[in-house]
Amino acid sequence: MPAVSIRPGRPTASDAAAFAELADMAADGLFEALLGRRAPEIVARVYRHPANELSFQQTDFCEADGSIAGMVNGYFGRHAKELRRGTARCLARHAGWWLARAAAVALPRARLFAFMDRRAPDAYYIQVLAVFPDRRGVGLGQRLLESVAATARKAGAASLELDVETRNDVAIALYERFGFRSIATSPKALLGNIQVQRMVKPLV
Ligand SMILES: CC(C)(COP(=O)(O)OP(=O)(O)OC[C@H]1O[C@@H](n2cnc3c(N)ncnc32)[C@H](O)[C@@H]1OP(=O)(O)O)[C@@H](O)C(=O)NCCC(=O)NCCS
Repeated sequence: MPAVSIRPGRPTASDAAAFAELADMAADGLFEALLGRRAPEIVARVYRHPANELSFQQTDFCEADGSIAGMVNGYFGRHAKELRRGTARCLARHAGWWLARAAAVALPRARLFAFMDRRAPDAYYIQVLAVFPDRRGVGLGQRLLESVAATARKAGAASLELDVETRNDVAIALYERFGFRSIATSPKALLGNIQVQRMVKPLV
């Protein structure tokens, strides 16, 4: 097991680049589909702003042997609306006309996104969990979950919740071992046949 530490995200270029890469991995290429080839640059810029869903303020990195190996990003459900407004403002500023493309790509996934947008106000929502491929399988995902559970508890959350693609067996097994249970399955997106399940872990 490498020497591991978890630290808060910082609004630096290197953290932003790692965030963009890991976020797209966890979203299975969705950012790229929505925002095109400039997605990593746009997501990295949004990350460096405060008060939005993708912000450094909502992100913790896992470092193993001195370099970034993974990250977790999440927030209290009751902050979802204001953070989403912040994301929309930042995207409008940095994505420009790519937003029109994003809207067109999002349309066939509208029912899926509506499912994912539901938040229990007393739950802490894990939006992104990802570990770089060459650092997987040594317990870093588990460490990141332990860290976000501690953050959520401290903030007074009653549970952790997340959405995971139904075909993501490795992540689902990790979540189940950590005490998550599936409570609902989304409608299928009309494009790409994507379906997610909502998983919840009580914290009290
Ligand atoms: C899900 C993910 C974060 C897990 O990270 P990780 O650091 O490998 O997690 P851990 O090492 O704590 O646990 C992984 C478990 O899956 C097992 N595993 C099975 N197949 C594996 C594979 N191909 N690669 C890595 N681990 C695998 C590991 O052995 C381990 O089980 P164990 O604890 O019983 O040994 C990582 O696979 C990832 O980033 N995936 C892509 C992004 C993603 O899907 N995120 C979740 C979106 S909701």
